Amino acid sequence: MGIRLSKNLVQELLVNYGSPLYVYDLEVLRQTIGQITRAIPTASFYFAAVTNGNVSLLKIFQEMGWGLHANTPGDIYLARHAGFSSSQIVYSGSNLNSAEMRQVLNDGVTVLNFDSLAQLQQFTEAAQGFDLNFRLGLRLNFPALTGNNRIGIRPAEFAEAVSIAGRSNHKIQGLHFYRGTGTNATAAFTEAIEMVLSIGSQLPDWQYLDFGGGFGYPYRQGSAVFDWKLFGEVLLERVGRLKRKIELVIEPGRSAIAGCGTLLTQVVATKWQGNKQIVGVDTTVANLAVLAVHGGYRQIVAVRDVPELDDAAIYHTDVCGNTTYSRDYLGKGCPLPALQVGDTLAILDVGAYGYAMSSHFLHRPRPAEVVIDRSIGNGDSVMHRLIRRRETTEILLANQII
Ligand SMILES: Cc1ncc(COP(=O)(O)O)c(C=O)c1O
Repeated sequence: MGIRLSKNLVQELLVNYGSPLYVYDLEVLRQTIGQITRAIPTASFYFAAVTNGNVSLLKIFQEMGWGLHANTPGDIYLARHAGFSSSQIVYSGSNLNSAEMRQVLNDGVTVLNFDSLAQLQQFTEAAQGFDLNFRLGLRLNFPALTGNNRIGIRPAEFAEAVSIAGRSNHKIQGLHFYRGTGTNATAAFTEAIEMVLSIGSQLPDWQYLDFGGGFGYPYRQGSAVFDWKLFGEVLLERVGRLKRKIELVIEPGRSAIAGCGTLLTQVVATKWQGNKQIVGVDTTVANLAVLAVHGGYRQIVAVRDVPELDDAAIYHTDVCGNTTYSRDYLGKGCPLPALQVGDTLAILDVGAYGYAMSSHFLHRPRPAEVVIDRSIGNGDSVMHRLIRRRETTEILLANQII
């Protein structure tokens, strides 16, 4: 998939903001949000901010009627800055300490899905004195559906959960299910629905089903594409058959935001090892950690005048970061033309778990982030705007006491 930026636009962006540079296409983001929303018209959508915490992008979700899924108090902090009200935030996370639990409640979040009985107990203690109408849910751990996973509560523990909540006059109204992570096989989701619904029916006060995130994104060209329309149809049909009315909550992350993001990087060195091209670029896996951490793949393309007419010879190319760290590869064996110092490469589909997972490992400052909006402007002129400044080396001393 991935968006293709014209060479002219790329040059303009690099002149204005430097390299490496995260670029987000707002039109693509809006289209994707619209497409997912239309697939399940009666569901409430909450964007999983774990994938991208840039407030300017979170605002787009807010404007388009989505809420925000918070994994951490930090997600809630960002959500509030993006303009989400507390009623537009769903907390589904893990292992808060008591101060953090109180913080979440102080922030006014009232929909909370817990992944252990201990966290539920912690909530009931923290919630004393709060005059709020809470909606509580349990994250499901059921190996046949959720795999061998540390997260969640087994159905055998549901009765205990109901009684922990009941002792403080709370009810368990939600079941949270996360099928993930990132599979494109629509059937992996649709085939789980029946069993999830029958487990949810074991909760006496069941009112909502949070079907989580984990919906895939086709990072590899030609790979299967998650079928939102089919998934929506099957989900609505099965939920409609239930004897009680169940509200649907969906927390997409990567599927909503991966495709709108590109990381631009410039070639700083080239060499050959036999037929293999070794290209050094001005970014590093610390700027795009998902590749080193999860062994992920992102397509890399050369920014050319007219890419589709480019009939240049193609070589197996390793795209290497600007450190000697043994895993500092942005891509291995990528099909790329012979490159020169100063050429630009675009690493596609990095909107999710891209900047959000970047770090100061290897002591390189983080790139800047910009948005482009093709709906503003005409022809070749595209609106662009900085949404996060490039870090400078001083950031490496931040909080150090010397
Ligand atoms: C509870 C929950 N919901 C949603 C997401 C988003 O997942 P994805 O990006 O795979 O859609 C996550 C990711 O960690 C999560 O933990």
